[in-house]
Amino acid sequence: MESLITNILLLISSALLLFYATKITVSIWWRPRCIERQLNQQGIKGNPCRLFFGDMKEELKVLMEAWSRPIGLNHKIVPRVLPYVHQTVEKHGRKSVVWFGTSPRVVVWEAELAKEVLSNKFGYFRLPQVNPLLKILAMGITSLDGESWVRRRRLIIPAFHMEKLKVTMILHEVLRLYPPVVALFRRTYKEIELGGVSFPAGVDLLLPIIMFHHDHELWGEDAEEFNPERFSQGVSKASKDPNAFFPFGWGPRICLGQNFAVIEAKMALSMILQNFSFQLSPSYTHAPYTVITLQPQHGAQVILTKL
Ligand code: HEM
Repeated sequence: MESLITNILLLISSALLLFYATKITVSIWWRPRCIERQLNQQGIKGNPCRLFFGDMKEELKVLMEAWSRPIGLNHKIVPRVLPYVHQTVEKHGRKSVVWFGTSPRVVVWEAELAKEVLSNKFGYFRLPQVNPLLKILAMGITSLDGESWVRRRRLIIPAFHMEKLKVTMILHEVLRLYPPVVALFRRTYKEIELGGVSFPAGVDLLLPIIMFHHDHELWGEDAEEFNPERFSQGVSKASKDPNAFFPFGWGPRICLGQNFAVIEAKMALSMILQNFSFQLSPSYTHAPYTVITLQPQHGAQVILTKL
């Protein structure tokens, strides 16, 4: 009797072991390879998906290298701010994929497609999963999805709703060259077709806002010059594609604090300008980098002179 129970327990634990081993193998090895093959066949290229870490080790190395020194005082900041995506696109073209561990992140660098993803008309996209601790600490509504997002968004909208204000050309140009949110992500949760490519569920789409904003094809030869005048006819006429500028996102999840942020920036700037003139300090080194949002790695030292 005792040996029968031992045998049954052994059988159950072996079955469980086999089940979980298969599950893990499928998720870290089989599934990424299937997705990789499917993407490759449709012209989406990238490094081969390596076990466990994908491109992460190389990405970290490239990031540390980019952050190790400042750049010249110009606005060509993409190679420093988003170095790995930049290098991947240089190597494999705009239709490329970066492996974030075993998760594929497909670069979507075409304005019309980015709009399609963010407008999420047919509900095909969701936010990628976020670390639960980060969710509790920092993200609130930005990490909610589905019904709970709809409820929370409805609750908050009135607090921010106001007349649409004309944003100044200067603020637009600053947000174009230095978008605080450099990229957005959406995950497919069903098989979908986008721009002639069919994506299985579980692919992250990476929308590199900063690369759209610095794109010479969209903004012309002076894409990396500070020229607020380009917005003189309004946002939609500033570039070749009216969807090329989206510092606050797009569609149903567009930034709730957009008007507030612009008013706040205008107020802060006008208060400073009423009392001071200012110039960049010689000690400033140009080193934009991203820790959640885009910021100066060594601070932004300015010299204020009282008027
Ligand atoms: C220049 C300043 C800001 C920029 C560039 C910015 C940018 C963005 C972007 C790109 C998104 C879309 C995220 C996505 O699609 O996944 C977003 C969402 C959001 N932003 Fe902002 N934001 C700014 C300031 C603010 C401020 C000041 C507030 C609040 C007072 C705010 C509140 C929110 C909220 C609540 C969401 C989530 C909306 C949702 O998921 O439905 N933002 N923001």
